[in-house]
Amino acid sequence: MALTFSTVGVIGAGTMGAGIAQVAAQAGCAVKLFDAREGASAAAIARNTESLKTLAAKGKLTAEDATNAAARMRPAVDLGDFHDCDLVIEAIVEELAAKRALFKQLDAICAADTVYASNTSSISITAIAAGLARPENVVGMHFFNPAPILPLVEIVAGRLTSTDTVDRVEIAAREWKKTPVRCTSSPGFIVNRVARPFYGEAFRVLECGGADLATVDLVLREAGGFKMGAFELLDLIGLDVNLMVTKSVWNAYYQDARYRPSVTQEEMVAGGLLGRKTGRGFYSYPEGSPRASASPFGPAPQLVQYLMESDALDPLAERIKASGIKVQARKEDDPFGAGRIRAGNASICLTDGRTATQTAFEDDLANVVMLDLARDFATTKRVALARGDETSTAALADAVGLFRAIGVEVSVIDDVPGMIVGRTLAMLANEGADAVLQKVADAAGVDTAMKLGVNHPEGPLETADRIGLILMNTILVNLQGHTGDERYRQSLLLQRKVWSGSTLRAQEE
Ligand code: NAI
Repeated sequence: MALTFSTVGVIGAGTMGAGIAQVAAQAGCAVKLFDAREGASAAAIARNTESLKTLAAKGKLTAEDATNAAARMRPAVDLGDFHDCDLVIEAIVEELAAKRALFKQLDAICAADTVYASNTSSISITAIAAGLARPENVVGMHFFNPAPILPLVEIVAGRLTSTDTVDRVEIAAREWKKTPVRCTSSPGFIVNRVARPFYGEAFRVLECGGADLATVDLVLREAGGFKMGAFELLDLIGLDVNLMVTKSVWNAYYQDARYRPSVTQEEMVAGGLLGRKTGRGFYSYPEGSPRASASPFGPAPQLVQYLMESDALDPLAERIKASGIKVQARKEDDPFGAGRIRAGNASICLTDGRTATQTAFEDDLANVVMLDLARDFATTKRVALARGDETSTAALADAVGLFRAIGVEVSVIDDVPGMIVGRTLAMLANEGADAVLQKVADAAGVDTAMKLGVNHPEGPLETADRIGLILMNTILVNLQGHTGDERYRQSLLLQRKVWSGSTLRAQEE
């Protein structure tokens, strides 16, 4: 089968360029690799050749395919070597002027139909194309590190990029065994933008004394279903790298509160506490984060009462029943309220973005224990609970006892609005919804990008549709009311779908 691009030039033989060269070579393209640093391309090809051999030794590749892929990569002597390339991908330093100057030079060398792709993660593709002879041929191909392993490639269209260019690059990415997702050039593209609240909300919980960082991570993993907590992930990425991305998106959106960086992170970066690479970030290495902590206390209650009117909590009621505890369904007009569980002295209320103390006051309810959202109450191993100021210790113990009795660990956190998982899932959905609304990508694209780019177990829009948009929206409304922070304003798309009783993903149909 003929490849869409048979001869591919890669400029910049660092981490990303070397990886991209290997991906293209493995797919069958002839690859020319250039770097301004003498000897860097040859060294990168030698490293790639070793990686290919290792893949063959592990049986991931035949020895013949490994040898052929290695033979397809050549160092380029200078930019003149790129005259016969039909696609040139740059992965040089992240500076607009350098990228523009590079493509400008290539304008005098390459054929008129050559496609120029940039691997930039933060620079506008429209800006890179400005002043070039053929801006319609300029596109973003945003690979993720390590490029040979991670499947996602964001295919980024600038204002003047032609549909034909986007189509061809997307087809090529598939030929290279990648999963392309189309998006328009805008700050952070999809992943670097929609992922911001994952870190942002964790910082806010920490900074308002909601929980310590190990608890935030534990709850995000075991109740939120994320592979890693926000702080351990920050340590892995590097606090400096992450802060740079946050600041770049924040500044690009004229310092919108949605993306506001954290003073804690700034302080740590200033102190050189960058994460694993410096041996110390939020945790010290090699130990890393503690993996578990025990629930504090609590005997099992004999009887719980539940008002069966919350889709989100029904799976939990089923679990309680299955454990042998008697569940007494309450009447719908019961003043106790919807989606609530009475266990002993405790009135357990699913988070709606209000605090336990606020709920007790506004709903005239005694002994409120707030329950954080879990990604899936049918399977969750852990939940977070918070007591209100006037909630008795006995009531909290009853709530903890209920969860322990059904095999669910409990983390007790402070009484913060939206708790940990609730606010995180709501804000991820909100950001994803705005990306769709602003036509950065379609809903399926946002979900795919988040699953493949940052390893989320589900796309943010899928999660919100499944859990319920009314709950997501209410969490945001209450968070904004409670904090007065513009960051929690609801996406117009989310609001609209709540009013129309539709879903975020219905947009596609
Ligand atoms: P790197 O620093 O590892 O490699 C950059 C290479 O480009 C160096 O070898 C340097 O000598 C060479 N170079 C710099 N200016 C040049 C020029 N004018 N002409 C030719 N060669 C030049 O950087 P890395 O991490 O590979 O990043 C490259 C690009 O990819 C940047 O735009 C970055 O934002 C983007 N990116 C980086 C990711 C990462 O995780 N490292 C992920 C996705 C995108």
